[in-house]
Amino acid sequence: MDKIHAVYNSRFNYLNEIKISPLSRAYTFSDSVYEVIPFCNSKIIAFKRHIKRLEKSCHALKLTFDIDKTSSEIHKLIEKSNLINGYVYYQVSRGIDLIRSHIYDDSLPVETFGYVVKHTFKSQKIKVMLCEDLRWQRCDIKSTSLLGNILSMNDAKRHDCNEVIMHKNNILTEGGASNVFFANDDTVFTPALSNNILPGITRELLINEIKASGIKVEEGEFSVSDIRAAKSIWLTSSTKGLAEVIDVLDMETELDHNHSLFQRCEKIFVEKFLSGS
Ligand code: PDD
Repeated sequence: MDKIHAVYNSRFNYLNEIKISPLSRAYTFSDSVYEVIPFCNSKIIAFKRHIKRLEKSCHALKLTFDIDKTSSEIHKLIEKSNLINGYVYYQVSRGIDLIRSHIYDDSLPVETFGYVVKHTFKSQKIKVMLCEDLRWQRCDIKSTSLLGNILSMNDAKRHDCNEVIMHKNNILTEGGASNVFFANDDTVFTPALSNNILPGITRELLINEIKASGIKVEEGEFSVSDIRAAKSIWLTSSTKGLAEVIDVLDMETELDHNHSLFQRCEKIFVEKFLSGS
């Protein structure tokens, strides 16, 4: 494997050469937020939106965020990597404690960490498992505290599934690392933004693009029975793009594997953001 370019507290280095303190609050408390910023054909997808969301996440945790430093480090990582298609992972944590303490010292300098890796943006067909959403009440913050997602996604893996679709009291929220869409013959549906889901950037880009091409989109409150009746279901994220769901574990669905509305949405997205990758 090629060496991975990384940056830790503004020092560029190879990933395997970076040493961090075990008293980093990212390590002891997940007191940190992150972004995954994709680039395709050497073009960063929705850079400003990713930076804005990172700024919002930092603000929610009362972390200092240096927009210029972060932006320049992300660009520099991509430049150093010489990659055409990939993504940057970038994390901001509260900093390093003198000794583990729930209450933090306001004067801790934030700790930042990023790396860049190759990624192929290819269309995927996936199997999902439905599960109760076990997470906290601020899933709109892109925090590294993802234990609920991790437990559910690995449970899904044990059932031969690639992802989960979560629901809270039967109301659909999102995937383990993605947002959820489904469609009937003429309308695309997706859970409305709330504290219970991440405002996905792929979600937003897709909604804007398909609406602009005349497709009806409804954002609202939907339940598990809507998944059962859907003609197509797909998940979106910066690394998955649009991943079509071809099977829902233990559920008899009405899925049409050649659903023209899904195919239109996928085509619009690929042409606009991923073509040539
Ligand atoms: N995750 N919801 C959750 C819980 C996510 O973790 C993600 C993405 C999304 C989609 O957001 P976006 O379209 O902005 O990537 C929704 C990233 C890719 C990750 O954690 O690796």
